[in-house]
Amino acid sequence: MSKLNIVILAAGKGTRMYSDLPKVLHAVGGKPILGHVLDCAKSLDPHKIIVVYGFGGDIVKQAFAHENIIWVNQAEQHGTGHAVQQAVPHLDADADTLILLGDVPLIEAQACRNLLKQAQNRLAILSFNKADPTGYGRIVRNAMYGVTAIVEHKDASEEQHKITEVNTGIMAMPNANLTQWLSRLDNHNAQGEYYLTDIVAMAVKDNIDVVAEITSDEWSVTGINSKTDLAQMERVHQSRIANKLLQQGVTLKDPARLDVRGALSCGRDVEIDVNCVFEGTVTLGSNVKIAANCVIKNADIAAGTHIAPFTHIDDTHIGENARIGPYARLRPGTTLAAETHIGNFVELKNAQVDVGSKINHLSYVGDSTVGKNVNIGAGTITCNYDGANKFRTVIEDDAFIGSDSQLVAPITIGRGATIAAGSTITRDAPAEQLTFCRAKEQKSIAGWKRPQKIKK
Ligand code: UD1
Ligand code: CA
Repeated sequence: MSKLNIVILAAGKGTRMYSDLPKVLHAVGGKPILGHVLDCAKSLDPHKIIVVYGFGGDIVKQAFAHENIIWVNQAEQHGTGHAVQQAVPHLDADADTLILLGDVPLIEAQACRNLLKQAQNRLAILSFNKADPTGYGRIVRNAMYGVTAIVEHKDASEEQHKITEVNTGIMAMPNANLTQWLSRLDNHNAQGEYYLTDIVAMAVKDNIDVVAEITSDEWSVTGINSKTDLAQMERVHQSRIANKLLQQGVTLKDPARLDVRGALSCGRDVEIDVNCVFEGTVTLGSNVKIAANCVIKNADIAAGTHIAPFTHIDDTHIGENARIGPYARLRPGTTLAAETHIGNFVELKNAQVDVGSKINHLSYVGDSTVGKNVNIGAGTITCNYDGANKFRTVIEDDAFIGSDSQLVAPITIGRGATIAAGSTITRDAPAEQLTFCRAKEQKSIAGWKRPQKIKK
């Protein structure tokens, strides 16, 4: 195939989003709409990607600052033809151009490849059949089914309004033809715009073949113009992800109650209960079970681990056969080795917990290194912060921390040490010994009575 240029049209205002955020930056599946289009474009291995931007341009550029994109400003939007004209100085004379729309997130690379195959020395248009074609450009065909023109809705005759084959806006053609046709566009039409679609009639006039490839996947060519469109597209995208996971053998208790806002990969026999949200890159090993109502972001969870309901996991690695939750919160920088148990209302932050250790109830363990087979009792707090600086807590293998203890960092609890319940430990505790630090005396007052309600 010849050299490829891709032009993405993204200058439209998105008025109907009623938002200060440019339309193409609204997210589908946790990724900006334009990000989806760019991913598709990049997968086609083009020589250049040119994005025509306008409304809110700088914010759009910043959002994709790390991408290898040629940005072209269309300061005033005078139509799709005018938009592509702005890209002309960057087009390679010996290349084909694929035109994509920045607000069509579910566009499929395979459909683009097929279109590009059709575009060898021809103009290839991606079309679809729309039950209600109102607003779309109609594909006009002659008696031999050959495409002769695209007529915009506002310019179409009553007869043409009945045509249900419509233009997706996605097309491909050789640049030699494209640049020539663009130079001949005018705006003598109902909207006073320079229509890209007018190049179809020009091609016919120039004896260049025009082909319209009809796609049956309407969602993959549907653009987003409103929050209603956005919400619908999100559901379609999510149901496609859920179906893929089901096809791979993942058990989803309800595919309609799953949200993947990033990339989720699963081993064999993974089970996911309802209302779970996965963000960023999440990897679940074989036989992992995620119970209902978990939010899991940038995590990898190894085989056999079970996550109980209402658990939040962010930027955390979890080893094999761990038991986490319910109601656990694992914050960034946390690493849990195999066979660890983290129970309810336990918050971990930047904590590395080694094999077989248990933190089962109501604890905060932050900036800590916890050895093997450590038991941390209910209500234990690592006091890692003095209001200005953070310090580390080290708890060595086989230590036992009694309930309701505070470990004031920096501090080391030695191997096999025991901390008595209710202790506030401020200095290192030696290995293998019992250390406690409590109020000196325990008093009982005989004959003491509880206060009574005063009767009125
Ligand atoms: C266009 C097509 C129509 C097709 C429809 C599919 C033309 C003249 N019409 O309609 O045949 O059925 O798309 O949705 O091409 N854009 C710019 N600059 C502009 C105008 C538009 O960048 O000056 C961008 C928009 O941001 C959008 C895309 O081009 O991504 C399509 O624009 P839009 O106004 O939605 O399409 P229509 O002109 O209504
Ligand atoms: Ca449109």
